[in-house]
Amino acid sequence: MSESNLKSMSELVSLAKRRGFVFQSSEIYGGLSSCWDYGPYGTELKLNLKERWWKSMTLREDVVGVDASILMHPEVWKASGHVDTFSDPLVDCKACKERYRADQIDTSAACPKCGAKESFTEQRDFNMMFETKMGAMEDSSASVFLRPETAQGIFVNFLNVQSTMRKKLPFGIAQIGKAFRNEITPGNFIFRTREFEQMEMQYFVKPGEQLDWMDKWKEIRWQWHINNGLRPEKLRWHPHGENDLAHYADAATDIEYEFPMGWGEMEGIHSRTDFDLKQHQEFSGKKLEYVDQADGNKRYLPYVIETSVGCDRSLLALLCDAYRLEFEGDKEKERSVMKFHHKLAPVKVAVLPLVKKLEGEARKLYENLASEYKSEFDVAGSIGKRYRRQDEIGTPFCITFDFDSLDDQKVTIRNRDTMVQERIAMDQVMNYLKDKLNA
Ligand code: GAP
Repeated sequence: MSESNLKSMSELVSLAKRRGFVFQSSEIYGGLSSCWDYGPYGTELKLNLKERWWKSMTLREDVVGVDASILMHPEVWKASGHVDTFSDPLVDCKACKERYRADQIDTSAACPKCGAKESFTEQRDFNMMFETKMGAMEDSSASVFLRPETAQGIFVNFLNVQSTMRKKLPFGIAQIGKAFRNEITPGNFIFRTREFEQMEMQYFVKPGEQLDWMDKWKEIRWQWHINNGLRPEKLRWHPHGENDLAHYADAATDIEYEFPMGWGEMEGIHSRTDFDLKQHQEFSGKKLEYVDQADGNKRYLPYVIETSVGCDRSLLALLCDAYRLEFEGDKEKERSVMKFHHKLAPVKVAVLPLVKKLEGEARKLYENLASEYKSEFDVAGSIGKRYRRQDEIGTPFCITFDFDSLDDQKVTIRNRDTMVQERIAMDQVMNYLKDKLNA
């Protein structure tokens, strides 16, 4: 298969808009900086991605799921360390008012935007949590935060889940949900946004066993990205050195993808020790210990291996990796095609009657296929244009219904990647697709 030849993020942003994957949020009002809306195909792609992650976690006997609320008790964020430490160092240029992360520029040099010298303010910490008010009170007692990570919803439910599901260590709790961070330097399309979705799993283990489990989960998570169709040469590990470990971790590594703007973190795998459970035990005053029946009813706080992948970043990697601009001979025959893994493709099959007159018969085939797969029916425009449109949204198969189909009850199936066309009996189409798409 040919390789992605995406040159720039702007090429992708333009395709994503043109074909209904991703739109700028509130576009008719001029847009809201670094906020994006998923269009119909983007939404399907995202749902497919989430479903794949969810199944990869919860079809395991040792992992169960939760769906915790976004708003949590304010003490949660004191206990987790977010109130004190979830901040970026910030400086402003006094001349042009541009704001920078102090760790990303040389503050002794001129302002990169306006060129003013010695123009930066003193560095100050900027907490990235979004604060809002709950209920009718306007005073500080009503302040709550939008969660900056989904993980804490899992930690505070550790005992609820363990006891109701009668889980023994090791076991995991998975969750998919929105998180919010008031990023100082968002950007690169959906790579860094202020509202995003995370797919996180906390795996609770006996203390001392965490690094073995971390190795196992590293392997599983790497393979998940490969199974989604990402090319291994576009992935790499980025282990955290002792000095860049988060306050809660005793080991951590990222899986990075090579985006058009360079390598960037897509997933973090962290050994979080018993930090979070210990903190919640202390701040809530509730015992969160596990009673280990397999070890003489010993009581202890489990250690945690966390796998945390950004849904939007993972989706961005899929878009980048799937993109191809292909030429057949001359420039006239150019096509852009999204070669998504068939399980992730937003639409699986399109039924295209050759001419409008054949619409009625072709529609019967479409309705049959649509009962099983996300399908499209398209009669508008030349057949070539309709193929190109389906190529651009990554539909693995197009089925053409022509005049002969009325007599021989056969249709032509075109493969997105090879563009090879096969003629097969109409009553065999469903089996053909099952064979290819369910694999
Ligand atoms: N619970 C651990 C945690 O939240 P993190 O490394 O801060 O760890 C995990 O975030 C993942 O969430 C990242 O690898 C990234 O994919 C995604 N993520 C973090 N901040 C993001 C942002 N501003 N926009 C989009 N995705 C983000």
